[in-house]
Amino acid sequence: MSESLLAYLNGEYLPRSEACLPITDRGLLFGDSVYEVIPAYGGLPFRVSHHLRRLDRSLAAIHMRNPLDHAQWQAVLERLAAQLPGQDQSIYLQVTRGAYPIRNHVIPQQVKPNVIAFTSVNPPRNPDNARRGIKAITLPDNRWHRCDIKATTLLANVLARAQATEEGADEAILIRDGAAMEGSASNLFIVSNGLLLTPPDSEDLLPGITRDLVLELAREAGAPYAQASIHHSDLETAEEVWLTSSTREISAVVELDGRPVGKGVPGEHWYRMDALFQACKERLRLGSECRDN
Ligand code: PDD
Repeated sequence: MSESLLAYLNGEYLPRSEACLPITDRGLLFGDSVYEVIPAYGGLPFRVSHHLRRLDRSLAAIHMRNPLDHAQWQAVLERLAAQLPGQDQSIYLQVTRGAYPIRNHVIPQQVKPNVIAFTSVNPPRNPDNARRGIKAITLPDNRWHRCDIKATTLLANVLARAQATEEGADEAILIRDGAAMEGSASNLFIVSNGLLLTPPDSEDLLPGITRDLVLELAREAGAPYAQASIHHSDLETAEEVWLTSSTREISAVVELDGRPVGKGVPGEHWYRMDALFQACKERLRLGSECRDN
């Protein structure tokens, strides 16, 4: 199925199997590249300008200019998503520094970025699965200190997820200097004494688009929330633990390191926030403001 879909490569739309980059691409050789994953619900890309602003930030942090402007990106995303009308999708995009014939850590002066994007179908959300929650483990955060850049250098994240899988868990929550930062591919929230908490913006975690939306929805709903450091031990006493991302939406962690979180089922705050999030997706379908801004 996905092989028959077209991918975007440097201005062209090609069958995925034909969209290739040279072996000297610095994204491949050095992880010298950044990316975004943008969800589409019912065929409609969600929160695009938020993702594109974060892409601009990531590129600026690695001293690159965005090769496409936002209108051009919007057109690419819409064209890719239009191949799967009405379907939920994850649209992946990546900008690499480009290919250069000599492998050298020094960033070449004259190098043209490579730009790729493709979409994949996601199965429609299964509310029963969501209500079952997920399992997580905690692991030391052995990533670098610029986790705010959405870079493709993800080996530490990949290995953390592999360990979680080996231990029968869905996600790993990463602990740095005693503080819980985020998941291997998700942001962290806890509910503690009725207060919704997420670690503050810093260079040690990704400013997640789903995380921003959850904070926005909490504010609109008048729910108490704060950005505050979450100690490892806070995870053990939390009433609720959630992990958020563009692919998992808001997952309730019901078991952490083999022990139940709260009552071992998604909590009341999760039910309320998940309903607000689903309503936001519904407004996207109806074409109102949740689509973006
Ligand atoms: N990852 N933190 C990390 C380390 C992530 O990789 C992600 C998402 C998030 C959540 O960000 P957002 O809400 O913007 O998706 C937080 C994507 C989904 C991925 O790598 O596939």
